[in-house]
Amino acid sequence: MFRSQVSLFSLLFLLSSSLTLTAQAETKSPTQEQVASLGGKAAGTILQTFMSSLQGAMKEGGVMHAVSFCNTEVPAITKKVKATLPQGLKVKRATTQVRNPHNTPDEMELKALEFFTQEFKRTGSYPASYIQSLQDGYRFYKPLLIAKPCLSCHGDKAAMAPELRELILEKYPTDQATGYKEGDLRGVLRIEIPQSALTE
Ligand code: HEC
Repeated sequence: MFRSQVSLFSLLFLLSSSLTLTAQAETKSPTQEQVASLGGKAAGTILQTFMSSLQGAMKEGGVMHAVSFCNTEVPAITKKVKATLPQGLKVKRATTQVRNPHNTPDEMELKALEFFTQEFKRTGSYPASYIQSLQDGYRFYKPLLIAKPCLSCHGDKAAMAPELRELILEKYPTDQATGYKEGDLRGVLRIEIPQSALTE
């Protein structure tokens, strides 16, 4: 009980800290503001739904159950959340240390990951978002940071319950997504917004 309250607190903290950062955005063109607002809203809904579902799965059956949940339920959740967003938005997660090879970054995603890493080195904190222009739209990125509850599945391999490590390796034999510490950049959430989803 206590444990799950602590986790919930950290997750809420993670969410609210990223929301606060959004408020201090630099000067942007009107289109960029629209992209930031739509991207921010989409990212917020997705993160909140993921977090509460993950939290629910952990509560229901512990971390072992949550792994199967991540594996089988996440596509369904993504589909459900996407139905509530403007048409044509594409969502992906990308990272340099993948668990699921599907999340391997393309060139532009690598640039976004590099942007967050460099800015952190320069300023000591991660910017709230990053925007790239495409020929007919934009990519809006949010940094995904490691919070305490993430560590059970992405932390030190040696500290992980052996049966959990086995289960993860069974599903993801080439897993590289361990060894993170609280506050590390785990990856980015990418929302691709076509021009058609923006009002003139
Ligand atoms: C119960 C175990 C578990 C917990 C807790 C967990 N994850 Fe994961 N994570 C996974 C699994 C399993 C995958 C692979 C999902 C897939 O197949 O797309 C994954 C994938 C990811 C990915 C996609 C990139 C990749 O490596 O495939 C990111 C980003 C991520 N997790 C971030 C987080 C963050 C941030 C937290 C904490 C808020 C967290 N995870 C908590 C199990 C977990």
